[in-house]
Amino acid sequence: MNQTDATRGRFITFEGIDGAGKSTHIGYVTSLLKGAGKRVVSTREPGGTPLGEKLRDLVLHEKMHLETEALIMFASRREHVAQVVEPAIARGDWVLSDRFTDASFAYQGGGRGLDRAKLDALEQWVHPHLQPDLTLLFDVPLDVARARLSATRALDKFEMEQADFFARVRGEYLRRAAESNGRIVVIDSTQTIDEVRAALQAALESWL
Ligand SMILES: Nc1ncnc2c1ncn2[C@@H]1O[C@H](COP(=O)(O)OP(=O)(O)OP(=O)(O)O)[C@@H](O)[C@H]1O
Ligand SMILES: [Mg+2]
Repeated sequence: MNQTDATRGRFITFEGIDGAGKSTHIGYVTSLLKGAGKRVVSTREPGGTPLGEKLRDLVLHEKMHLETEALIMFASRREHVAQVVEPAIARGDWVLSDRFTDASFAYQGGGRGLDRAKLDALEQWVHPHLQPDLTLLFDVPLDVARARLSATRALDKFEMEQADFFARVRGEYLRRAAESNGRIVVIDSTQTIDEVRAALQAALESWL
């Protein structure tokens, strides 16, 4: 992106296992940023475009080969980056995305065991020059996330996976956070919603 930092928007992604609290806190981060005078675009993956939402429905509910799953995730992402994320950042908006490429590494890579080199290649193909400016990783043990989720709604294909799958997903997220040079900030999501909000405010302080 050949834009100066002053006119360019920012890209913030929300990550974590199912039920960790991503969707709950996007609204709060939106209000913090709007309070600081930013224009905010809130979006999600898989999805974020009309075609992407159709792909989301397929990938969350149909059984398929794990590489098909990864390819659909990145096909949805290609559309999302081109139609939503890059135009918004270019016009100076702040984009908040409920999941992005870290989720592919965590679920298809960590969870399902897809070779990381294949995910690296897809990332290079689909967004070679774009990375989140900040990623908020909502970290919570599986049993806490599961208890929160089952109270709310029917589970999708991923949410019905076993505990060891989520342990691998969570482990891969934390491994990436440790290697991210500060891009990925781990938020302890076992805390109360008010405590999580305080942690988010602290994580965003230098941006507000
Ligand atoms: N810190 C918290 N304390 C108590 N309950 C919480 C907390 N954070 C979220 N919840 C509740 O947990 C449930 C799951 O949260 P949420 O839908 O935000 O998770 P998510 O990360 O978006 O999950 P998914 O990946 O399945 O979309 C919701 O009912 C939400 O109200
Ligand atoms: Mg959610």
